[in-house]
Amino acid sequence: MKDLTPDRSTLDPIEIASLDEIRSLQLQRMRWSLTHAYDNVPHYKQRFDQHSVHPNDLTQLSDLAKFPFTEKEHLRQNYPFGLFAVPKEKIIRVHASSGTTGKPTVVGYTQRDIDNWADLVARSMRASGTRSGDTVHVGYGYGLFTGGLGAHYGAERLGCTVVPVSGGMTERQVMLIEDFKPTTIMLTPSYMLNILEQYQALGLDPKASSLEVGIFGAEPWTNAMRQSIEEAFDMHAVDIYGLSEVMGPGVANECVETKDGLHLWEDHFYPEIINPDTGEVLPDGEIGELVFTTLTKEGLPIVRYRTRDLSRLLPGTARTMRRLEKITGRSDDMMILRGVNVFPTQIEEQVLKLPELAPYFQIELTKEGPMDVMTVMVETTPDAHRSGSRTQAEAALTGRIKEIIGVSAKVVVGEPGTVERSQGKARRVIDSRNR
Ligand code: DLL
Repeated sequence: MKDLTPDRSTLDPIEIASLDEIRSLQLQRMRWSLTHAYDNVPHYKQRFDQHSVHPNDLTQLSDLAKFPFTEKEHLRQNYPFGLFAVPKEKIIRVHASSGTTGKPTVVGYTQRDIDNWADLVARSMRASGTRSGDTVHVGYGYGLFTGGLGAHYGAERLGCTVVPVSGGMTERQVMLIEDFKPTTIMLTPSYMLNILEQYQALGLDPKASSLEVGIFGAEPWTNAMRQSIEEAFDMHAVDIYGLSEVMGPGVANECVETKDGLHLWEDHFYPEIINPDTGEVLPDGEIGELVFTTLTKEGLPIVRYRTRDLSRLLPGTARTMRRLEKITGRSDDMMILRGVNVFPTQIEEQVLKLPELAPYFQIELTKEGPMDVMTVMVETTPDAHRSGSRTQAEAALTGRIKEIIGVSAKVVVGEPGTVERSQGKARRVIDSRNR
């Protein structure tokens, strides 16, 4: 793999400013943001008043803990535009997250918000090893989802040639990679596996492709998955994080030279980690739920938004700003089996350890009497299928899940092609317990 470490002179000065400088900028911006929300959004005025706090009560960053949380439910209650903090004519774009039930959550951006977003995605891409002049294949979905357009504007801002492919039509994605020769690809890691499979099906060598770096996010993925994609394509695989309510992709990104967690762009977002049961703020280094306060957003400022994502904050390395440890999962995805907490990422790690298994998996939850039962559906690689090692693979995966994760699971090893393929965010868990 090529050394893609960006030249330090190309970084935004704030990325490598002193911590004191970053904290003082945050305090100044946080005061502005809380005041902006309080003065312009009735929901925030009401919530702050109910909790007897006022933006003037913020004299240091830790005072943020006095302010009430914002939850997804609050966006739903104010559907569609109730949380916007500027007159409608200042909103130049809306996006929405699909949500599995009910109304979507709608977010709005001013021109300045779109500019900041493009800057931060450009910064994220630069951290990933992409340079001005590179060709970038965007396979994140375009539309209400923030992935496609978010990546697109960032790539343009960095000075790249953008190929706006969006998701789907996997065989055509391969053709475009082969013909247009992008050096960067941006899509979900599970969709990248789908593209890898197409390469193999077409008899093409993925290692010979033009790709040098993949910027993967929008869903949890493991270091085991990183290794398997990096080896297959002989390219760097870097993690990008974000969420619509806070901005979209580019809230945090790994640096290609360290790949040790995602540097949070703290000049625009203030992170906290809380105990999800009590709401108490936890010290850096402890695992809990990630909470964000936006520091510069005009259209939709958000105060202490509970993401449901689980991670911890670590000190900066390649940049001064703090890192977010690779996300284990969302509290919504956590399965509890006989008292043991299990995340789909833990299953992913074990599936990828077994060379006879293809890297696709899905989990089904059912009930047997009062007990929750987890069935892991996987499939053999075409090679392993020919040598007929299905029962062996079944026993091996069942054993690993029992030994390493500590739960009993049913494992079903199908033939190649039997597990659902992802075209965007992978659907890891099918919950059939209430059927
Ligand atoms: O998924 C934004 C995005 C697009 C991020 C493209 C990265 C790349 P939403 O649809 O609002 O926005 O979903 C946000 O996806 O709360 C996490 O649970 C999950 N997520 C996003 N990035 C990562 C990541 C976009 N790198 C939700 N690792 C978040 C783990 C991630 N989970």
